[in-house]
Amino acid sequence: MKHFLKETDFRLSELDGLFALAHEFKAHRGRHAAPLAGQTWAMIFSKSSTRTRVSFEVGIHELGGNPLFLNRNDIQLGRGETIADTARVLSRFVHGLIVRTFDHAEVQQLADMGTIPVINALTDLLHPCQIYADAFTLAERWGRSGDLVGALRGRKIAFVGDRGCNVANSWILGANLLGMKISLAGPAGFDAAPEFNQLLAAEGYANGYQFTTDPYEAVRDADVVYTDVWVSMGKEEETAERIRVMSPFTVNAGLMAAAKPDALFMHCLPAHAGQEVTQEVLDSPRSIIFDQAENRLHMQKAIMAKLAQPAGA
Ligand code: CP
Ligand code: NVA
Repeated sequence: MKHFLKETDFRLSELDGLFALAHEFKAHRGRHAAPLAGQTWAMIFSKSSTRTRVSFEVGIHELGGNPLFLNRNDIQLGRGETIADTARVLSRFVHGLIVRTFDHAEVQQLADMGTIPVINALTDLLHPCQIYADAFTLAERWGRSGDLVGALRGRKIAFVGDRGCNVANSWILGANLLGMKISLAGPAGFDAAPEFNQLLAAEGYANGYQFTTDPYEAVRDADVVYTDVWVSMGKEEETAERIRVMSPFTVNAGLMAAAKPDALFMHCLPAHAGQEVTQEVLDSPRSIIFDQAENRLHMQKAIMAKLAQPAGA
């Protein structure tokens, strides 16, 4: 059973096919095959979501399937039923599971204990659907048909801000998989969780990124400047401290000017203008934030189509 819990769950050699499928779904929206026909895919969400929830619900529908949204607190999981029993029971009813939660171990356990494909829709550790959609967004701009993924090789992405957050972690994994260079800038003391460093080492990417406390150094020669919120979901009690120490890391026009002249600006959204990025940069012609958001739909449809088991299997 194939799952998508982290970037490296697809091999590099599989990505051209995956990206081509996302491209096909985008080009032929409403007129393509329905590989989820007759299937129901459940979505267990323990955190808020706009893009991920809507793109998965719409995507499952467009692939011919039925999305079943389950707020964690509306099912017995929220009252203490075990992950293992939840996985076993849902495997008897539905054909795939999409999970947004805090502890990454939960998505791993759902995958291990169930018998259906599981997709990570964000944990505290990783956000792989975001990075695949982002990489597809870049491949659309830089690549050509038949070699979408190769166009990313050797390019540099600079991640500025909360360098230990899920999106930063996922971009480290993604950049290494794709052969991109990645440089991160943020305040000292906000490192990735030890669990992420273990994962990175296990993947053979322990030295696969650069870190600096100087945002100008990080963005030098960058093709992409990327940021995310300073206060991720679950970190709300640290809000004042995070805003205080991360304020030198706002992506503004001056910082963008220090990257390559044609550098793109990316953000997974939601954005907090005035904190991690200025409104001017969000609205600038360099910003491709809404292409990123749209491509969540097309890429996630491709991921589900690749993971789906035939109906009745
Ligand atoms: N980027 C992203 O995952 O957004 P949502 O939290 O709105 O799903
Ligand atoms: N790092 C953010 C991403 C939101 C899509 C969070 O976890 O809240």
